[in-house]
Parts: sequence; C-alpha cells; structure tokens
Amino acid sequence: MTDRKVALITGGVGGIGTGVTRKLAEDGFFVVANYAIEGSEVAWRAAMSAAGMGKDRVALAHGDVTDFDAMDKMVADITDDHGPVAVLVNCAGITRDMSFRKMSPDQWQAVISTNLTSVFNVTRHVIDGMCERGWGRIVNISSVNALKGQFGQTNYTAAKAGILGFTRSLALEVAAKGVTVNAISPGFIDTDMTRAIRDDVREQLVASIPAARVGVPDDIAQAVAYLVSDGASYMTGANLAVNGGTYMHA
Ligand code: CAA
Repeated sequence: MTDRKVALITGGVGGIGTGVTRKLAEDGFFVVANYAIEGSEVAWRAAMSAAGMGKDRVALAHGDVTDFDAMDKMVADITDDHGPVAVLVNCAGITRDMSFRKMSPDQWQAVISTNLTSVFNVTRHVIDGMCERGWGRIVNISSVNALKGQFGQTNYTAAKAGILGFTRSLALEVAAKGVTVNAISPGFIDTDMTRAIRDDVREQLVASIPAARVGVPDDIAQAVAYLVSDGASYMTGANLAVNGGTYMHA
C-alpha cells in the first residue's frame, strides 16, 4: 500500500506509455504500468530501475485490455496491493494499417477492441471509486488522425474518434463528482508504432510537420501531467492537440 496517489497507465510499457509512466512517477504519483505481452516488461523494468524508478515508485500489472473481466481483476488487485486508482491514462493502442478495400474483419476488430473497447473495459472498473472519493482524473489518448483522417487507417481513426465522443459524454456524467475526463490527440511521435510505417510513407509524413521535428513521448507526457494535476480541475471534456502544428482545429 502506498500513500501516494495511484496512477494506472494502460499500455504503460509502450512508447508513449513509458514516457507517461516516468513523468507521473517524477511528479509524485505511484504509477502502475499495464502491459499485455508477457516478457515485454522485463527489459522495461530494468531500464526503469536504472533510471531510479524502482518498485517503490512504479509497479507492473499484466492484463489484456480487450478483456472486461480481466480488467476487473487487474483493477481489484492494484487496489488491494497499492490503493485505489486515482488517475487512469488509457494509452493502450495498436495499428493494423490497410486501405479500406483490402481491410479484413480481423484488422478492423483488433483495432476497435484494443483502442476503443479497452477504454470502456478499464474505465468502467475505476469510475465508481473516483466518484465516491470525489477526486479522479481520466486521460484518453486519441490521435491527430482521428481529427484529420489518414489513408490506410479507417479502423484506427474510427476508434480514436470514438474515444473523443466517449471523453465528452463521460465528462458530463462525472463533472459534478470531482472527476475530470479529457483526451490528448498526439501527432507523429517517435515510437515503435511510427517507426513501423513504410519508409517512403513515413518520410512524407515527417516532412509535413510544421514544427520540423518528430514528437517525443515526453511531449505527450507533459500534457498528461497537466491534465492530472490539481490545477486542471476545471478542465474537462477537452481534447489537447499535441502535434507540432500538423493539424489545427477549433
Ligand atoms: N494518400 C493517397 N493515396 C495513396 C496513399 C496516400 N497516403 N497511399 C497509397 N495511395 C494510393 C496509391 O498511390 C495507389 O493508387 P493507384 O491504385 O491509383 O496506383 C493506391 O493508393 C494503393 O493502394 P494500396 O492499398 O495498395 O496502398 P498500399 O498498400 O501501397 O499502402 C498503406 C497502404 C500500407 C496503408 C499505406 O498507405 C500506409 O502505410 N499508410 C500510412 C498509414 C499511417 O499513417 N499510419 C500511421 C501509423 S502511426 C499512428 O497511427 C500514430 C498516430 O496516432 C499519429
């Protein structure tokens, strides 16, 4: 059990998730990083320890975010071991890029389950406690591509745009309970996900970024840190665009 506020990051060992985990741990949260693929946490744990983030500051929680019951158990275990979840960052996400006319039902379903249904599966298990305690922060990671569309990503953009609707509606439902629900829409961030894009397509995307650089996970982590702070208590239902000027919207 910790006396710090507990922050749960889904996909916490991934590219953006790792940046968020580090930043929130630095800011004094006890951070639980969720991961789905057995073994992916080993090198991650070693790197975190080397960076001074030991087990007293950062824990790991295995579980598949597409499985509602598994998330129920994971949240219950975290609550027993460390304390109630005060901050949830829904960060788990995958791509299965394919032009729509070639897209298989599996490619559609995998992305909708992992990127959108996951947000329901995890949030559903933490929201009652947050409302009862009168304080909570939920941050959902969407994407610039949800706003502008992206060739080859009908599945991904549908899921990420769904997250924005979810964010606004849940924000309304819990606004009077001291719980805020916001989204962040990252642009092109240097992670394994964007490194996997075909070289020619990647080069074109990078060349079009007005800030003339690819984003780094810490660019997103800084925005998360603000949204989960006490100072952001009047911000809810918002979507922060962190994209180096790639897409500007009202
Ligand atoms: N815009 C317009 N037309 C395009 C295009 C594009 N970006 N890419 C391909 N086309 C055209 C081709 O010119 C070709 O046209 P013709 O048939 O007239 O010759 C046709 O589409 C080819 O279609 P294919 O289905 O064969 O396309 P492909 O297999 O060559 O490539 C793809 C499809 C793999 C999805 C490729 O477009 C791609 O990798 N796109 C990038 C997807 C992307 O941006 N992913 C972002 C991942 S990172 C992320 O998602 C993080 C985040 O939140 C920002």
